Amino acid sequence: MKTNNIKITAIVGSLRQGSLNHQLAFEAGKALKAAAAEQDLGTVDFEILDYSDVPLFNQDNEHPAPDAVKRIREIVKSSNGIWFFSPEYNHFFPGVLKNLIDWLSRPVSDTEGQVLGGKPAAVSGISPGISGTGIAQDHLVTLISFLNMKVMNLPRLAIPNVKQQTDSDGRLTLTTSAPYLEKQAQAFIRFIMNVI
Ligand code: FNR
Repeated sequence: MKTNNIKITAIVGSLRQGSLNHQLAFEAGKALKAAAAEQDLGTVDFEILDYSDVPLFNQDNEHPAPDAVKRIREIVKSSNGIWFFSPEYNHFFPGVLKNLIDWLSRPVSDTEGQVLGGKPAAVSGISPGISGTGIAQDHLVTLISFLNMKVMNLPRLAIPNVKQQTDSDGRLTLTTSAPYLEKQAQAFIRFIMNVI
């Protein structure tokens, strides 16, 4: 079955220049396009969301929503799937990501609900330590499940010991984990096809 065209948006839980999770998201975009082409599953539009201009959530400033929030809501609404790539900070996912999700968890208006409900979601992460972001992922999955996202729990990708897969300049070289990322990309396209 062909999907024709699906749009997948990556949300990275790090705003850092050179973020490993951002680099992983970039590789995932390539893996998604390759998976769709190889398996005759249509084409994939892939975007890594820039949300660095989203303010800290303050209920006093919720209405009207800031322009940055309006823009991101439109991107999420037009996406067939959301793929999260998050670091682990103190066994949790970073506050910037929680802040973004708090904004997105709020109804758009009196007549329109929040934009994450029903959206297929995949979860991945990479870290220097041995947990590979697995603990943070569990917290993230709890949150996005509460918001009624359709979470693909199998496979998830948690890449530990990042030094084994980076060069001396901190660039991700993705060696041993590349096949797992490819498998997750294939699975996510199929998961989306079954949900939409
Ligand atoms: C970390 N880091 C970290 N790593 C980990 O595996 N488990 C953890 O609990 C934490 N905790 C933590 C807290 C804080 C405040 C910082 C700044 C960092 C290390 C973190 O995984 C590492 O900096 C990653 O490279 C961050 O991801 P990006 O920015 O490279 O995508």
